Formats: sequence, C-alpha cells, structure tokens
Amino acid sequence: MNLKGRDFISTQDWSKRELEFALDKAGELKEKFKNGIPHRELPDKTAFLIFFDKSTRTRNSFEAGITQLGGHGHFIEAHTSQIAHGESPKDMGIILSGYGHGIAIRHDLVPGEGNTYMREVAKYASVPVMNMQCDVDHPFQMMADLMTIKEVYGNNLKGKKIAVSWAYAPSYAKPMSVPQGLIMLMTRFGMDVVLAHPPEYTLMDEPLNHARKNAKENGGSFEIVDSMEEAFKDADVVYPKSWGIMSLFGTPEKALEISKKYKRWICDEEKMKLTKPDSIYMHCLPADRGFEVTDEVIDGKHSVIYQEAENRLHTAKAIMAITM
Ligand code: CP
Repeated sequence: MNLKGRDFISTQDWSKRELEFALDKAGELKEKFKNGIPHRELPDKTAFLIFFDKSTRTRNSFEAGITQLGGHGHFIEAHTSQIAHGESPKDMGIILSGYGHGIAIRHDLVPGEGNTYMREVAKYASVPVMNMQCDVDHPFQMMADLMTIKEVYGNNLKGKKIAVSWAYAPSYAKPMSVPQGLIMLMTRFGMDVVLAHPPEYTLMDEPLNHARKNAKENGGSFEIVDSMEEAFKDADVVYPKSWGIMSLFGTPEKALEISKKYKRWICDEEKMKLTKPDSIYMHCLPADRGFEVTDEVIDGKHSVIYQEAENRLHTAKAIMAITM
C-alpha cells in the first residue's frame, strides 16, 4: 500500500484498510524500538510542527519519533511566527513545502477554526499535512487509543462496549476533538459506543453524523445518554474526560460556572464497579486528578494510560513513515 504524500487530517479521510495498515506499521516500529533495532526510514527529512496550543505528548512523540526515523522535527509556535501577524495558511503550506517533507499542525482551541485552517494549508502544500489535534478530531490520539484497545482485546472489537463520557474538570475548557474522534473511529471498528454528557455538552453535528453512519455500516452501535453511570454499565472500555461547551470557548469563566453543577461526573471506584471486571480505563491526558478521575482509578488495575500515552510515539512514527 503506498500512502506517500497523503494528508492525515481526520481518521474519516482514510479507509479502514489504510488505518489498519498504519496500525500494523506502528506495531512493527514499536517492536523495533523496544528491541533497539534501528529504523531510520526518513533519513534527513524534516517535519514542521506548528503549535497554536500547548502540548506534552504530541510535541514530544513527534519530535522523538522523527529523530528516531532519521529525520528532524522543527518546532514552530504560532504566536512567535508570522502566523501571529496574519501570514496566510496558503503561504505557510507553500513555503514550508519548499523547506521540508511534512507539516503537522495543532490548532484545537477554537471551534470552527482548526480543521478549516489545516485543510487550507493542505490545499496548497505539496507535502503531507498531519493533524496534531484540531477542533473536530485528534486522529493521532485516536490511532494510539485504537492500538491500545486492540493490544488489550485483540483485533476483533465487535461487541465490545466503549463508554465515552464527559467528566468535570476545573483546569480549562478542553477541546471537543477527543470525544468526537472516539465516536467516529470506534464505531468504524464495530464497537458499541455510548456517549454520555450533561445537556450543555453536545458535540458537533459532523462527527455525530459520522458516528451514526459508521455504526450502521460496521455492525456496531451508537447511543447518547445523559448519565456516566448508565454509560459505564457493562463497559469494556471507559474513556471519561472533560470538554468545553461549544458556544462558550470564548468565555471560559461562564463555562466553568456551568460545569460546577456537574462535579459528580467523576470516574471513581464506585462507577468502575458498574463496568466489566476486566474493563480498561483510558484518558488521553493530561487528566485533572481528583476531578475527572480519582487517583485510585487512574493509578489502579483498570488503567492503561501509560500504555496509551506510549503508543502516541509508535503511531506518530508510523503515519510519518508511511506518508512522508
Ligand atoms: N493527549 C495529548 O494530545 O496530549 P498533549 O496535549 O500533551 O499533546
């Protein structure tokens, strides 16, 4: 399969076979990394990494990953580049294509902006454009999550239930792209996906529509409920995390006030008892400990958060290796 030159902006843009090919590649690179086998598949290539927002896992998995592949990651902060003075996505796409071999972008904090921005860069770039998280999807996180779920449960996920639930967090209005990415991708792999949130926390129409269609086409199901407890019942995977209110990203203090009504939306031992005995707890991180989840759960026997975070490296490397 030749995916050289392909953008990776949403998992929806790739066929299931292409996603599975990328996951196989991630598995191969993980094995090589763990055994100290060199895998310099992108010698002397440069990936530009443009960040409009903060990051720990994404930045470091891309930078370490491209280095391990024999190339170089070039970190660009939007606010210290000419983007801050209004330089256009068209110019960024054309100019950076002339300097290197891939452009990855994180632009996730403003609903309606990030995905549009990166698709505009991609329209003009002659190198692959990769989405390091936008307002709609977080496809590299999704690939790491799918890889982790498959490592635990095997390749056939039909009949496995995942609870994607909102949880309370006082730190900041987290993007909606993780729950949106999850409902889009996990329905494609035949899972029974249950989304739970208080009424103010609805997701965007586009990912919701994809989730409904994907579930129909792939033999799984998609349901929305208004209680974390209901979603957790008999779940194989729980993924409780916070996200912001779509219309209030510009007024975080208002959003925070509303969120305080829902402090009971915490993942704790009591709620974990509702899940299957061997269920797994996932979170893309960073988590608000003591709010989104208790220490007992995130550090407990169900938690796979560090395996999940580690898989960010292998999936980032896989997609760069096959597209750049
Ligand atoms: N999960 C995730 O994307 O982490 P960072 O925000 O630290 O990159």
